[in-house]
Amino acid sequence: MPKVLISDKMDPRAAQIFRDRGVEVDEITGKTPEELIAIIGQYDGLAIRSSTKVTKAILDAATNLKVIGRAGIGVDNVDIPYASAKGVVVMNTPFGNSITTAEHAIALMFALARQLPEADASTQAGKWEKNRFMGVEVTGKTLGLIGAGNIGSIVASRALGLKMKVAAFDPFLTPERAIEIGVEKVTLDDLLAKADFITLHTPLTDQTRNILSRENLAKTKPGVRIINCARGGLIDEAALKEGLESGHIAGAALDVFAVEPAKENPLFGTPNFISTPHLGASTDEAQVNVALQVAEQLSDYLLEGGVTNA
Ligand code: MLT
Repeated sequence: MPKVLISDKMDPRAAQIFRDRGVEVDEITGKTPEELIAIIGQYDGLAIRSSTKVTKAILDAATNLKVIGRAGIGVDNVDIPYASAKGVVVMNTPFGNSITTAEHAIALMFALARQLPEADASTQAGKWEKNRFMGVEVTGKTLGLIGAGNIGSIVASRALGLKMKVAAFDPFLTPERAIEIGVEKVTLDDLLAKADFITLHTPLTDQTRNILSRENLAKTKPGVRIINCARGGLIDEAALKEGLESGHIAGAALDVFAVEPAKENPLFGTPNFISTPHLGASTDEAQVNVALQVAEQLSDYLLEGGVTNA
């Protein structure tokens, strides 16, 4: 019987699926890398979220490992080239948390538009600053999407429902697909010049790293508001801080940071800056979806050789 280790906290239904499918499963979370190295050799499969870092050292110790399943989208916590070189298949669950992440981006857009965190803190401090918080409507505004794939297209549909105009920069977006999802396909420079809100929905790659660089932030429309629920590293955080301080950027909301966990960051305390601790996938629904999907996918692979989302 194949044996799987669940090494990050995951919905308990994942373990039940493994058992029901005839896969032995251990749930051992919160281990240090050294502790994981000591036990990983017994397992054929490894199910992770984002806490476990699957490094070369872990892979070297994983002498029986055949497959790694990431309950979520990003696989940046796995050394993929090394895993592939060792013949270990790496899978993710690209669709289970897409709606949840898109909804978080929309939530942050409204939080910026109406300064909700500041207004909440001020009201609970007994200040009743009714005249301090003047917001903006999103209706009729242009939302610039950087990345119009799975999550970006869901954000577009919600924004269109809010009567926004949506412009998208995405080299992989075909003109037909742009029409289908109701967005205007634009160049990055066009998007920077026209967007009232910009939201990023792209993985972090050599092409996208620092896509909102100092130079590109300077090309944005004065008063722009920026949201990032994708990956840290897409925005130059120092330049973003300067843009917020100068007032050129009216607001920024980041769920993801260049260095995580972001227990300290130069942006903290900057006016009109909102942060959340990488909550993009954190809903009951999404966590059940990704846990069930990863358990089914790993079971398929270990029992039948079936490959999904590798
Ligand atoms: C993902 O890649 O699925 C999201 O960023 C969520 C996460 O890492 O927790």
